[in-house]
Amino acid sequence: MTVNVMTSKEVTKTVFNNEELFILDVRNASDFNDWKIEGENFEYLNVPYFELLDGVEEIMEEIPTNKKVLVVCAKEGSSVMVAEMLSDAGLNVSYLKGGMKAWSEHLEPVKVGDLNDGGEIYQFVRIGKGCLSYMVLSNGEAAVIDATRMTDIYLDFAENMGAKIKHVIDTHLHADHISGGRTIAEKTDAVYWLPPKDATEVTFDYQPLEDGNDITIGNTTINIAALYSPGHTIGSTSFAVDKKFLISGDILFIDSIGRPDLAGKAEDWVGDLRETLYKRYRELSEELIVLPAHFMIIDELNDDGSVSEKLGALFVKNHGLNIEDENEFRKLVTENLPPQPNAYQEIRETNMGKINPDMDQQREMEIGPNRCAVR
Ligand SMILES: [Fe+2]
Repeated sequence: MTVNVMTSKEVTKTVFNNEELFILDVRNASDFNDWKIEGENFEYLNVPYFELLDGVEEIMEEIPTNKKVLVVCAKEGSSVMVAEMLSDAGLNVSYLKGGMKAWSEHLEPVKVGDLNDGGEIYQFVRIGKGCLSYMVLSNGEAAVIDATRMTDIYLDFAENMGAKIKHVIDTHLHADHISGGRTIAEKTDAVYWLPPKDATEVTFDYQPLEDGNDITIGNTTINIAALYSPGHTIGSTSFAVDKKFLISGDILFIDSIGRPDLAGKAEDWVGDLRETLYKRYRELSEELIVLPAHFMIIDELNDDGSVSEKLGALFVKNHGLNIEDENEFRKLVTENLPPQPNAYQEIRETNMGKINPDMDQQREMEIGPNRCAVR
C-alpha cells in the first residue's frame, strides 16, 4: 500500500476547518512536549522513531482506522520510514512533507478586510509558530508589516496581486523571529521603516518610524498612521490602517498581552506597557479591528483561520486589559513571564544586522513556539 503525503498547507486547512486528525509524532519526547502541531480536534501519539526500528506491531492497536493519520518528524525522513511500515501493515496513513521544518515556515495568507478605496488587507498566518504578518494592498501598491524571513512568499504574493511593494515596516525589533523586512526592502527598493528607539544598534540604513507618521500607498490615501505604543520594547509602534484596523504588534493579543522583558528591562517597561494598554489604546475607537503580531493558542483563530477582534470586545474579554490595580498589574506581568524564546538574543542581533547566520542556522534559532505574551 502506498503512503500518502500531506503538505503543511493541507494540514493548515485541516486546522482551520476544525477537522479531526490523528498525529503520530516520532520525534523525541522533549521536542514533542516543547512544540507540536496544534489543532482543535487533533489526537496525538508520541513514539520516538528509534523505538520503531524493529517494527510497528506494538503501536498498531493505538492507531485509529476510522480517521486520517499523519506521521510527523523533524525533517520528513523518519516519518516516511514509519509511514511505510504502517502501510505495509495495512494502515492508510500519510506523512508530513518537509516535517516540522516545513511546518515552522508555512505562511497561510488570509484576507482580513477591505479598505475604503477597494484595497485589501491580508494576514499571513505562520500556523506553526504563531507569527502574524500583513500586506496592505491598494491600487497596485503594497505595504508589508512584520515580515518573516520567508520573504519569497510576500514577493510572490505581491506579484500575483499585481502590486509593487513600496513600504516595509517592523512594529518593533523582533526577538522571537528573524525579520524579512530588510531583505524585502533591498529586493524591491521599498522604504524600510523601524522605530528608532529599537534601532539604536542597527548596522544598516532605515527610515525612522515616529509617532504620527502617515504612510500612504496607492494613488488614494490608504492611511497607515503610526502610534507610539511602548511596553513590549521601548520602541514598539502600532498602526491604524484606514481608520478600520489596528496593527498592535506584540503589545496586545486576542487572549493576552505583550511581555516587557525581552531586552532585560521588565521592571522599566511594565509601566510603559500599562500606559499603552490602559491609556493610549483607550483613546482609540473601539470599532477598530485589532490585528496582532502573534497568536498563542489555537482558540484565537477565527473560523476562517484569521486572528482578529474588535478593540472594544478585547477591553471586555482580555484579562490583561482588566486589572484596575496598577501594582497588581505589575506583579502579574513580572511574575508570569514565560521562558524566553529560543535564541532570542541571537535573533535580536540578526535583526540588528550585527550577525548574519545562514539559512540552516536561522532555522535552528527559530525552532519552537513563539513566547511573546504574558498569559
Ligand atoms: Fe516581539
